[in-house]
Amino acid sequence: MVAYNSSYEWDVRREICEVGKRLYDQFFIAGNDGNISVRLSENEILITPTGVNKGMMRPEMILKISPEGELIEALVGGKPSSETRMHLIIYRHRPDIRAVVHAHPPTATGFAVAGFGLDKPFLPEVVVRTGPTLLVPYAIPGGDELPESLVPHLEGRDALLLANHGVVAYSKKLWDAQANLETVELNARILLTAHQLGNVEYLSDEQVRALEKRYRG
Ligand code: 13P
Repeated sequence: MVAYNSSYEWDVRREICEVGKRLYDQFFIAGNDGNISVRLSENEILITPTGVNKGMMRPEMILKISPEGELIEALVGGKPSSETRMHLIIYRHRPDIRAVVHAHPPTATGFAVAGFGLDKPFLPEVVVRTGPTLLVPYAIPGGDELPESLVPHLEGRDALLLANHGVVAYSKKLWDAQANLETVELNARILLTAHQLGNVEYLSDEQVRALEKRYRG
């Protein structure tokens, strides 16, 4: 039995479990899908274990690794996510980022399967919140190429669509990364609805500039 305490690390471990449960309850993941990490400090990252249901984790199951991916602590065993390198490359190239969430939200992932990004401005949220959500070409999940394929696209946007795979979202705080992922899924549902209704009115360049001026200064 692991004794819980109220330290920051244990708060984060509990938050990771809460986000995992929310992803599972939202049906953004099934089975053992998805992974979540939080950068605790310069030298320590907490990450979900591979091959477990992320909706049913306990705080002690979360693993601690270094920024190079070496295992620091596994309180009750387990191995870090097979997608660890994807998380690490985001932290390496975006020093401002402290949390990464990867899942397979069905409508956004449907766009990623159909070969469509969500990168044209059709809602203010697309402009001011996540940035345009590009579709990054397919690479094998957990393989060497996937993390590298993200690098050119990480700056200036806080979520990416992964072709034939899912969504990865990131932010300064875990719940903000989760919110970015949810925004991408909601955007996908809205765009799909507009397509079904037979028309999409994209925001003009002028409207985009006005939004950027107002919300991004
Ligand atoms: P892990 O359980 O290894 O994190 O993998 C889940 C997943 O979604 C792979 O794309």
